[in-house]
Amino acid sequence: MIGAASGTRIGITGLGANVPDRVFTNKDLEQFVDTTDEWIVERTGIRERRFATKKQALTDIAEPAAIAALADAGVEASSIDLIVVATVTPDMMFPTSSALLADSLGMPNAAAYDLLAGCTGFMYALAQAYGMVSSGLSKRALVIGGDVLSKILDWTDRSTLVLFGDGAGAVVVEPVEQGGFLGFELGADGGGGENLWLPGSGSRHFEDADKLVKMNGREVFKFATRVLVSSAEKVLAECGLTVADIDVYVPHQANKRIIDYAAGKLGIPEEKVVVNVDRYGNTSSGSIPLALADAAADGRLREGELVLMTGMGAGLTWGSALIEWTNERKAA
Ligand code: ACO
Repeated sequence: MIGAASGTRIGITGLGANVPDRVFTNKDLEQFVDTTDEWIVERTGIRERRFATKKQALTDIAEPAAIAALADAGVEASSIDLIVVATVTPDMMFPTSSALLADSLGMPNAAAYDLLAGCTGFMYALAQAYGMVSSGLSKRALVIGGDVLSKILDWTDRSTLVLFGDGAGAVVVEPVEQGGFLGFELGADGGGGENLWLPGSGSRHFEDADKLVKMNGREVFKFATRVLVSSAEKVLAECGLTVADIDVYVPHQANKRIIDYAAGKLGIPEEKVVVNVDRYGNTSSGSIPLALADAAADGRLREGELVLMTGMGAGLTWGSALIEWTNERKAA
């Protein structure tokens, strides 16, 4: 799916992020698997990540991010009429985490649902919120991306354990006076799905459920470097823009080598690339909103700047969005 935005301007007016307190350094992981800090840093750029406690579930991590996004936008929770939570680690399949959050945050008028598109979930959710708000069906949406992948990792598998972390980010999506979304490109290739999968998570292998992540790292690496580039090129062309127009690049934070490859191939200079994979690892659906919130906190998201976000992940899926940044706040 690809398209340029038209009609009412829709943008992001509030941002929030949250990660669990518990820090696990690469050295800490050496007690679980045969690995070294040197290997992890060289192959991935990751130095540490946050892991939830046994008692913490997705909504515990996502709720503070949502509260921060609402405060940043200057809006009341009760004014949200759509909440979409992108995740592969909901508290449970149902009730959905979005319904639980709508209740705990105080959103009695909100439609609420969870969205499953792997690490690309946040990009899919943004596109959906854009569509619903631009059509007038929703007046103001809250989009959350978050995961607690530590719960579904095989803590004896060094090829996956060292890559991931837990975290969540949230944004408020609504009409804006200036700037806003310019276009989206989303795609999927289920044929490559078994390169990154959770076979026991649904009705196919229910009886002999193996509920831990399996990954073919080399294949995912090839896929990721390919789609980060092709998706960005497609959405830029659709919007009549070029790489030279990009001010801030927010790629999915899977691996520093993947980010460097994509930025290099696209020709985006390092100073325009947002990177926090060193501190958080790959937080799946939380990765892009966490990186956006980091960039905003560092003063890197300025009025009128062109921001390119591209995600990719399980499915296999990918997705890009272009947005002209606005710092508009709404009256509470
Ligand atoms: N510590 C030490 N050695 C390790 C570790 C580890 N944590 N993990 C693997 N190795 C070993 C392997 O066993 C292998 O040993 P061998 O040669 O004796 O067989 C050796 O290191 C090299 O393994 P490779 O898989 O070739 O290493 P590579 O350089 O490809 O890096 C990595 C592996 C980091 C997983 C890389 O393939 C990668 O980043 N892939 C993409 C993964 C990813 O980003 N997934 C998520 C994206 S989508 C989403 O976000 C859900």
